[in-house]
Amino acid sequence: MVKPLTSAVILKDVKKTFDGKDYVLKGIDLSIPKGSLTAIIGFSGTGKSVVLKHMLGLFKPTSGSIEVLGQDLNELNINQLTLFRQKFGVLFQSAALFDDMTVLENVCFPLTEHRRDLTKVRMAEIAEEKLLEVGLEKKHFGKLPSEISGGMQKRTGLARALALDPDILIYDEPTTGLDPILTEMVDDLIVKTHKHRQGITSIMVSHDLYAAFRIADYVAMLDAGRVLLYGTPDDFYNSNIELVKKFVAKGMKH
Ligand SMILES: Nc1ncnc2c1ncn2[C@@H]1O[C@H](COP(=O)(O)OP(=O)(O)O)[C@@H](O)[C@H]1O
Ligand SMILES: [Mg+2]
Repeated sequence: MVKPLTSAVILKDVKKTFDGKDYVLKGIDLSIPKGSLTAIIGFSGTGKSVVLKHMLGLFKPTSGSIEVLGQDLNELNINQLTLFRQKFGVLFQSAALFDDMTVLENVCFPLTEHRRDLTKVRMAEIAEEKLLEVGLEKKHFGKLPSEISGGMQKRTGLARALALDPDILIYDEPTTGLDPILTEMVDDLIVKTHKHRQGITSIMVSHDLYAAFRIADYVAMLDAGRVLLYGTPDDFYNSNIELVKKFVAKGMKH
């Protein structure tokens, strides 16, 4: 009998050192439920981005294992990992769009890289579909990133992350540096996209606790390379862990 798959990502005792001396990750155990919107929070430099890069197979753990959608990443070679990475859509802090490509060309890019079986016309159709899904109007599709607003750039970046219909969406500090209005727009976009895409797993690293607790099903707080607390937003409000209480109080001053 096939075991039902309930976790999208499982990290087991993941340790990582870059210099063979100091451990950035000191034994991360984390299981992210399939279909959930999970936030990873914690002070700056605690290893949040490093954890995400392990999930993406961009970093190899010094020890421990990472399983994504039932696949142990340790078993894949570089080429297989590159292919496997198509299961992810990623949106970083800066939308990281190509300046010399139009909005539409930016969203087509992953398709031209990975879906050579498709015609150019079909690729453009898919890109238009994704752009409309994230709420960008057609009149902007032919513009360069420099000709559209910051909010539209975020939408374009998200449309590009959706181009290959990923199983897992990863956001690393998607709202850092944005004004409050744009922050709320991006948060709403994350929730809307998560709800719209049945079964998708969304993993968001955020410095914005208010947003994390408002929109996430589960929250994992990292501290010094370990998971300090993992649970629902309510588990965080009710926690007696001193550092959690401090962090929650600080983050809630909005
Ligand atoms: N490629 C790398 N080589 C060496 N050290 C790294 C590398 N990437 C991250 N680190 C270190 O790992 C620690 C955690 O970084 P990071 O995960 O980026 O923190 P954050 O929680 O702010 O996202 C930091 O001390 C950082 O300097
Ligand atoms: Mg980071």
